[in-house]
Amino acid sequence: MKTKKTKKTRKQASSLNFLALSNDSTAKTFIMATLVCLVCAVFVSVAAVSLKPLQVLNKELDKKKNILQVAGLYQEGDDIEAAFSKIEIKLIDLETGEYTSEYDANSYDDRKAAKDPAFNVQIAKKDDLANIRMRPKVMPVYQVKEGDTVKQLILPVNGYGLWSTLYGFLAVENDGQTIVGLSFYEHAETPGLGGEVDNPKWKSIWSGKKVYAADGRVAIDVVKGAVVPGSSGNEFKVDGLAGATLTSRGVGNMLKYWMGKEGYQKYLNKVQANGV
Ligand SMILES: Cc1cc2nc3c(=O)[nH]c(=O)nc-3n(C[C@H](O)[C@H](O)[C@H](O)COP(=O)(O)O)c2cc1C
Repeated sequence: MKTKKTKKTRKQASSLNFLALSNDSTAKTFIMATLVCLVCAVFVSVAAVSLKPLQVLNKELDKKKNILQVAGLYQEGDDIEAAFSKIEIKLIDLETGEYTSEYDANSYDDRKAAKDPAFNVQIAKKDDLANIRMRPKVMPVYQVKEGDTVKQLILPVNGYGLWSTLYGFLAVENDGQTIVGLSFYEHAETPGLGGEVDNPKWKSIWSGKKVYAADGRVAIDVVKGAVVPGSSGNEFKVDGLAGATLTSRGVGNMLKYWMGKEGYQKYLNKVQANGV
């Protein structure tokens, strides 16, 4: 009995001792700093864990907003989910250019698939125009519908610029050839230089440009400087960004890759021949 009491009294005394220490003492400063760190770490962890589902939802909404924007179907303030109801997601096997129902189109994540050896293919160096090293075997296509008619096809694209991989969408009309728009939702190019890929004026130049030449080769490209008005092949050329030749080249190369045989060409050729 006596020993228990002594132990308790010692414990109380030691915690009191800590509080009784001078505010200038190294031990008290160290203990207080550790306690503050611990409390903050708990707050940050709780916030990170509890906000994760909201972050995932916001990321998903942002992606949908970008898809709607590139299709010209979104005005600031619109209900994203309501506008997105016009869009049907289908999956394409890039090897065959055929639709596949192997996975659930609404939950398929092409960016995750690109990193998973079970779902991706390594790209041979000579074919890797987009400089991405691997791509998913299956990609989603977002089909914009008016009633039963598919009006546009929105295709995810990605490729390396100067500092980063740019992720975005190319929207084409149901002829599989005429561009509606190009928009990026993620990149880390320099604001004011490569970051001008987000400039609405530059983005507007893409509308009406054509992807494939008469011989079937991918002809769309970003040129250095401005396209000369009236020059031949203008329908395939887009002005390069001033002071950002490397990002511009990256965008041109990414489209050459994704619109080519490794990418959506087999699918788009079928669309051109038989409709969507
Ligand atoms: C700090 C800094 C950031 C840059 N960021 C970019 C960029 O995001 N994209 C790009 O193509 N060039 C960028 N550049 C310029 C490139 O180094 C290169 O000079 C440029 O792409 C050449 O383009 P031009 O021939 O149109 O001048 C940057 C340069 C500096 C110094």
